[in-house]
Amino acid sequence: MHRTLKPFLNCLIRGATPRSAALGSIRSESTVVTLIPGDGIGPEISASVQQIFEAAKVPITWEKVDVTPVKGPDGRFSIPQKAIDSILKNRIGLKGPLATPIGKGHRSLNLEIRKVFSLYANIRPCRSVEGYKTLYDDVDIVTIRENTEGEYSGIEHEIVSGVVQSIKLITEPASRRVAEYAFEYAKANGRKTVTAVHKANIMRMSDGLFLQCCRETAEKHPEIKYKEMYLDTVCLNMVQDPSRFDVLVMPNLYGDILSDLCAGLIGGLGITPSGNIGKEGAVFESVHGTAPDIAGQDKANPTALLLSAIMMLRYMKLNQYADNIERACFDVIREGRLLTGDLGGKATCSEFTAEIIKNLK
Ligand code: NAI
Repeated sequence: MHRTLKPFLNCLIRGATPRSAALGSIRSESTVVTLIPGDGIGPEISASVQQIFEAAKVPITWEKVDVTPVKGPDGRFSIPQKAIDSILKNRIGLKGPLATPIGKGHRSLNLEIRKVFSLYANIRPCRSVEGYKTLYDDVDIVTIRENTEGEYSGIEHEIVSGVVQSIKLITEPASRRVAEYAFEYAKANGRKTVTAVHKANIMRMSDGLFLQCCRETAEKHPEIKYKEMYLDTVCLNMVQDPSRFDVLVMPNLYGDILSDLCAGLIGGLGITPSGNIGKEGAVFESVHGTAPDIAGQDKANPTALLLSAIMMLRYMKLNQYADNIERACFDVIREGRLLTGDLGGKATCSEFTAEIIKNLK
């Protein structure tokens, strides 16, 4: 197993195993967590999470950082050093959505954060939320997406005018690392099957290598059933019967798309949490965008960020706080009296937040 992998297998939503020494042992006193509130609705939903955590007496201290890009000596825009230092020091962060300016001369900050902290695996558990009816019941899928390379390696260039090339980079170490994570995750969470999602019939070398790494990793974990499926077949089968899927592992772009598809099955990005696991630490984030159409209007649903923060608490072994907040949140959704607009209700973010606080034990 990758030397640094094991400590981060603990970022598991349920049945989390103890966090290892690589992250430093969790102190009983307050632990400092980097908070990136983000843009648009980010500050509103971050404030909601902070209020709920305070009411639940969670022993963490937030270190709020701004990631608005700054121009470096080389003229390139990037994340301020202070923000980088904060996550490197605390090794754990919670992040709201960030706007990606188009054509502003800097890369997606989300991509940059993943690169800077080597957040190599993105985990998205998609589980049906009781009381929030969708077309599908009993969805319980986890997508594990390679987060650092593939189609999002950021290598693009113009060959001649009118002809551009984008490189899909697949490497053996990154493929093995995410495959290993997927199997360890499956084992730690009582999952039965890991399915590698690919298009190796078309991209024989790149997806072929990814698949080869998954196959070899599977041999080391005979207790977990291993399957391989084409991406298109997964999409077809997923909308026909999502209950046939368990843990899915795949390259970057497929993971981006499939994880949103899975979120759609349970009611959308507003209720889907996510965690990014890396060598230097872990960053948990809501996966929806900045929702500029409702920003500043107290209409945002904070659930996705709250559930991501709950994943984070389990990662930190603060399970009793996680359980209390999660139960309160799901109670409010099940009751259906005070829901935000995206969930079909009329409540404000503040009202929804206050109701969760009221339901805390
Ligand atoms: P979006 O997710 O911001 O909005 C899509 C629709 O969903 C909108 O109608 C919005 O009001 C609604 N929505 C999203 N989150 C919601 C919430 N928590 N509560 C209630 N309604 C919610 O996607 P869009 O409009 O494509 O992107 C806007 C900006 O966000 C762009 O700059 C984009 O680059 C950025 N973005 C950032 C992400 C991240 O930081 N992880 C992910 C996706 C987009």
